Order: sequence, then structure tokens, then C-alpha cells
Amino acid sequence: DATKPLTGKHVLVTAGPTHEPIDPVRYIANRSSGKQGFAIAAAAAAAGARVTLVAGPVGLPDPDGVAVRRVETARDMLAAVETALPADIAIFAAAVADWRPAQEATSKLKKDGSGVVPPLHVTENPDILATIAHLKDQRPGLVVGFAAETDDVFENAKKKLGRKGADIIVANDVSPETGVMGGGANTVHLVTAEGIESWPQMPKDEVARRLVHWIAGRLSPTA
Ligand code: C5P
Repeated sequence: DATKPLTGKHVLVTAGPTHEPIDPVRYIANRSSGKQGFAIAAAAAAAGARVTLVAGPVGLPDPDGVAVRRVETARDMLAAVETALPADIAIFAAAVADWRPAQEATSKLKKDGSGVVPPLHVTENPDILATIAHLKDQRPGLVVGFAAETDDVFENAKKKLGRKGADIIVANDVSPETGVMGGGANTVHLVTAEGIESWPQMPKDEVARRLVHWIAGRLSPTA
């Protein structure tokens, strides 16, 4: 069935931001609506796959036919991804916070009026994509990353392909004037070891459908 090229495959998708708590009422996060990742999960399910979606805090409903795991922090997201393995295809669309507060205060930090501000020490979060792409035994057959860039989109995406160990990087320009962030449309460039394929701007749902079929076409027959 040409409309269901992912029948029998397990597809793992991450989406949304992560929240990294500073204290019980504050957090560090990236801007991410989760729309593109949720659309990819829905498109993979429509293409016949069994889909696990590991989602950070977003206000989007569970897509039909998708097993959704809701998480808050990058460390929770990595744990949920590891639990969901093995997968034939892993697509990392989440905007993971690169840093988290080194310590989470157990009670709310107080502004005491003295003008003295609390220091915010941060520590690096695990890179979920790089961790999974470098697995020896359970590496998914195809590992797909995203690169949201505001400058030198192609150069940065190509570097990311090598550094992170991904098979495909989906690069998009998220400069404020593009309206991609939180908007309904996206312009993507598919970066692989063989080269770059650029697609015209289209709705995120359409990007998701085409991407899922494009990826399915790159699965080796034995995968
Ligand atoms: O380095 P950068 O955040 O631009 O890389 C983007 C890609 O890496 C995305 O696919 C994103 O989901 C993934 N990533 C991740 N874990 C991180 C940081 C990024 O999986 N800690």
C-alpha cells in the first residue's frame, strides 16, 4: 500500500520545548509550539507506523493513533526516549533546552528588596539526538535531527549532521521575519551526506506528510 509505507515500523518522535525548573514557579525554556513535531507524529501514524511521541510541555492534543509520553525536562525526555527504543526511525523535532539550572530551589526564590539578585548557575543538558545516534546496539535505522537556525543555515546544518551523528538534518530558517516560530508554515532544507534538497514554503502539516514519505523512501529494505 503506497499510502502506508511505514506499516510495521516503529517511529519515535520528540516535540515541543523542555522546561528546566529554577524553583517551583520559574523555569528556563526554548520557544517551541510543538506543531511541526506533532504533525510529523500524526503523519507517521497515517503512513502506517506505530508511533511514540515524546512531548515536552505544549498545549496540543494527542494526535490520533499515537502513543504520547508527556515530559517536562531534557533528562525526562531522554529517559522516555530510551524507554521507547527500539525504533526503526527516530525524528528529533524537540527544542531541548541546552542548559538547566545547576540547582533547583525547593522553595520560591524571594525578591527581598535589597537589590541583590540571585545568581543563576547553569549546567549542560544531555544531547538526546547525539546520545541516541551514537548508540551501539539500539541505534535506530534512521536518525533525523532538526536545525533551527537564524544564520548560515546550510553551513550549520552540515556541521550538525557530522557532530551529532544524524543521517538527515532538516534545516529551517527561524529568523523572526520568517514567522516560522509558532506559525503554521515552514521552509525546510533536507541535508544528508549526499547533499541538500530545498523545498518551497508549505504548511507544517504538508511538510510533515512529505517528510515522512521522503524518509520512508530512504529506509533500507532490510531495516
Ligand atoms: O544543537 P541544536 O539544538 O541546534 O540541535 C538541534 C537538534 O538536536 C534537534 O533535532 C534537537 O531536537 C536535537 N537536540 C536534542 N537534545 C539536545 C539539544 C538538541 O535532542 N539537548
